[in-house]
Amino acid sequence: MLRQLYGKVALVTGASSGIGRATALALAQSGAKVVAASRRITEGEEIVRQIQEAGGEAIFVKTDVSKAAEVEALVNKTVDTYGRLDCAFNNAGIPSTGLLTDILEEDWDHVINVNLKGTWLCLKYEIREMLIQGGGAIVNVASIGGVVGFAGYASYCASKAGVIALTRSAAMEYAKFGIRINAVSPGAIETEMLATIPAHQLAQMIAMHPIGRSGKPEEIAEAVVWLCSDSASFVVGHNMMIDGGYTVH
Ligand SMILES: NC(=O)c1ccc[n+]([C@@H]2O[C@H](COP(=O)([O-])OP(=O)(O)OC[C@H]3O[C@@H](n4cnc5c(N)ncnc54)[C@H](OP(=O)(O)O)[C@@H]3O)[C@@H](O)[C@H]2O)c1
Repeated sequence: MLRQLYGKVALVTGASSGIGRATALALAQSGAKVVAASRRITEGEEIVRQIQEAGGEAIFVKTDVSKAAEVEALVNKTVDTYGRLDCAFNNAGIPSTGLLTDILEEDWDHVINVNLKGTWLCLKYEIREMLIQGGGAIVNVASIGGVVGFAGYASYCASKAGVIALTRSAAMEYAKFGIRINAVSPGAIETEMLATIPAHQLAQMIAMHPIGRSGKPEEIAEAVVWLCSDSASFVVGHNMMIDGGYTVH
């Protein structure tokens, strides 16, 4: 892999598993110093150990993205440790299930608080720092569920559609300050989250991907590294579908 992010500082939320873990490792392989954030400490520290073992630099900061004080502290810790913040991958997210009429108010609030409010809080504190520095690149994680409907996943889909809208508005507000903000929308990717979907439903869903298989977390990570790099210098407010063609038909 090219070391196109050499010397950059990259923050990853939801780094303890799945897409976040793969992206933290890919960013480090690309030369970035990585700040890995999540609620689970053991798994988060394991990513740091792997990056350091491979010769990279990383720290772990325990963070719940739905809490403003914790997100602010995460960005402050990043800057205190590495002096700046160049790239951010706002990836932390949770699934939801249940027909719309059965969703409990507290479950609705939880999904929106983590997936949508959490992304906004990350943007808020990351952008404040990037404005001081005069630039940066941010990638939010949306989903095919933010683009098309899924029966039984209304709150998740609403939260991810919100992430796409938030990405576009944020991109418009801050592009002129040298901050590029984009989103990726994965299809079915083999992570802990996918394992929560009942087997028969999952098989049906995977069959609807024209490529004929589910994706690997590393296939999202590659795109995120590119979006964070100067190779994507004219890409702004884009929602990149990485879905094996799911949303093409
Ligand atoms: N897998 C798919 O098919 C797929 C498809 C489309 C979009 N996505 C999106 O991709 C992102 C990553 O999901 P994944 O598939 O990699 O699933 P995953 O393995 O379950 O990872 C989710 C990550 O989010 C973190 N997280 C959850 N709540 C958090 C909170 N309140 N504060 C901080 N971190 C939190 C988890 O860490 P802790 O539990 O340690 O906090 C974990 O690291 C999510 O936004 C998901 O919606 C996934």
